[in-house]
Amino acid sequence: KAHPRMAEVIDALTRHLHAFIKEVEPTHEEWLTGIKFLTETGHMCTEWRQEFILLSDILGVSMLVDAINNRRPSGATENTILGPFYVANRPMLPNGDNICKDMKGEPCLVTGTVRDTEGRLIPGAVVDVWQTNDDGFYDVQQKGVQPEENMRGAFTTDAEGRYWFRTVKPRFYPIPDDGPVGKLLGQLGRHPFRAAHIHAIVTAEGYDTVITHIFEPNCRYLREDTVFGVKESLVGHFEKVEDTLEAAEAGFDGAPFFWK
Ligand code: DHB
Ligand code: FE
Repeated sequence: KAHPRMAEVIDALTRHLHAFIKEVEPTHEEWLTGIKFLTETGHMCTEWRQEFILLSDILGVSMLVDAINNRRPSGATENTILGPFYVANRPMLPNGDNICKDMKGEPCLVTGTVRDTEGRLIPGAVVDVWQTNDDGFYDVQQKGVQPEENMRGAFTTDAEGRYWFRTVKPRFYPIPDDGPVGKLLGQLGRHPFRAAHIHAIVTAEGYDTVITHIFEPNCRYLREDTVFGVKESLVGHFEKVEDTLEAAEAGFDGAPFFWK
């Protein structure tokens, strides 16, 4: 069946591919190398992941598609990359709960409010968060190694639109670099690291969904995130506090606390 939008897209792709080939003038061998690379990229490297999204991410294409589709009024929280490690069936937790179940890392308290674009507080919004553990892996990458549902959970804003939860300070970590895309990064002289972040998906009935991160301001990769996900407005404020009572409540003995 004819599909005019498909025809339009493939026409544009063909024009750009021809221009690209004319610019780089590949040898037959180089052309084959490209075909092989794309073939490997499409192979399943685990039972749930092939690498085309990863490729799109490291070329900045994912962020561009997101920017085109999520133009928001200024002041509204910006989107950034979703990444492959979101798990839809995560625990719903009460505010104040600790998502860190392996007790590794620097204790951190995250607090915030959810508001509409006019600044009105939104009660009952769901703030769904996930991050790596202090070794730089998501729980789904280390089944049987990390506790179940380590470093993920969803919190609901209270009557004043507030949410708060305990975790550990995020750290930088490499995107999966053992496949064709990792090999490509190596050939380009690029590192595989993502600037330290906490992921969040914020949903509320009757509102657009926000898919975003909180970035850690002092991360050494803040200005060179390998998937170009950093936006100035998403860099959090981390403040060191010595609150042994709060720390004890969170199950961390007398440790310093970071607040967002
Ligand atoms: C994330 C991981 C990736 O491998 C990627 O390509 C993009 C984002 C992440 O979890 O942040
Ligand atoms: Fe991540």
